[in-house]
Amino acid sequence: TDTPIGQKPMMGFNNWARFTCAAQARLDGTRAGYSFQHFMEDQAKAMKATGLVAAGYKNLTVDDCWMQRTSAGYLHGAAHWGGSSQPGFDWELTGYADRLHALGMEAGLYSTSGEKTCQGVPGGVKGHEDNDARSLAYWGIDSLKLDNCGTTWSDRQQIFTTMAKALKTASTGKDRKILFNESAPAAASGAESVKYKTMDWVRGLGQMWRVSPDITVWPKAAWNDPSAGSAYQGGVYQNFTDTVALARYNGVGNHNDADMLLIGDNKQLTLPEQRSQFALWSVMGSPLMISTDVRKMAAHPKDYQEQLAILKNKDIIAVDQDPLGAGGYLASRDNASATAGIDVVVKPLAGGSRAVTVLNKNSSSVQYKLDLARLGFGNLSCTRIARNLWTHQGSRVTDSISTTIGGHDNAMFTVAPGSCGGAADAVGQIQA
Ligand code: GLA
Repeated sequence: TDTPIGQKPMMGFNNWARFTCAAQARLDGTRAGYSFQHFMEDQAKAMKATGLVAAGYKNLTVDDCWMQRTSAGYLHGAAHWGGSSQPGFDWELTGYADRLHALGMEAGLYSTSGEKTCQGVPGGVKGHEDNDARSLAYWGIDSLKLDNCGTTWSDRQQIFTTMAKALKTASTGKDRKILFNESAPAAASGAESVKYKTMDWVRGLGQMWRVSPDITVWPKAAWNDPSAGSAYQGGVYQNFTDTVALARYNGVGNHNDADMLLIGDNKQLTLPEQRSQFALWSVMGSPLMISTDVRKMAAHPKDYQEQLAILKNKDIIAVDQDPLGAGGYLASRDNASATAGIDVVVKPLAGGSRAVTVLNKNSSSVQYKLDLARLGFGNLSCTRIARNLWTHQGSRVTDSISTTIGGHDNAMFTVAPGSCGGAADAVGQIQA
């Protein structure tokens, strides 16, 4: 029998948003032979050294441009990856996965459903599904991110289905199963995605899927990316808005992915904005994939204390990883604007508690009274315990919580049923 994988949202690192394909070029140029593979392994070592692995960030996914396809048709590390040039199964990747496993991490690879990746690298799985799945299993790879480039909305389902089967077959009987991370529904609210019912078929095939545009790549400011909507890129606010609307698709082993976290050395978000991205991603139950230069954080931990504290906030991680697996839904949005008003997102938790993130979209600080009726609690005359997940303080509350929230910052709480007992009343409030 198969042990289920990917039951909780993935936590880890992906190089894309911070480094794109330039990873191998933006390295330490003074070290001859410093390859893309070394770069990824150094990020992994830094994840370990900073305590991020211990905090749960285990998956290390290398995105586009790591690969090539040999003339014999096999998937293989590109020359800049640092693999050997022999065709067939590449022992360099086996060593790579082994070394990540030795650090307590998992190895993720990227490919696409067509022939060429989004960066034009001829390494996509189309026509090679079974061989590629076997290579991944042989190398000891733990997850595959499969992108959309090279396929269209109409032929995508067929290739994703073929690949899901191939991954399953290749990992049958092995301890290590390969998690399937599907990009298929990226921009899921678009007409084409709705027409081809992408959100419905991805659930049966994999454990997580992108639903929003690409998070703004480095170095552009990413809070409310002005290119959102025009280019295929969304800022934190756009990706949050798109993802929260699809809360109903979340569940145990089923995760809407709002894309990578820009918390760290990126400087694309202010500290309050970094806190807010974390609080929003967690309350939505999104995977938490860091995309930053962790090597820098490991080398200068004092300079990155605040960023590391955000990423390691146990209370907030616990909301993301809650065993109920519910998605967070938008309980209120008092202003449609990205730059004014307050958004309230609620996530039901196992045991009847509820997590809530209150986002202040204004640029200046506000005093806010959070009405507990908005969390779906019915009897508002009894006492409940609210835990502030940023200060880790508990307090007794009845009908509301009053709090001051800085510009672009947030307040985040869990509220337990307390003396009222039982679960929150309005579980049926999760809506489209
Ligand atoms: C697409 C994906 C990104 C990244 C790039 C790589 O745009 O959505 O996450 O994988 O391709 O080219």
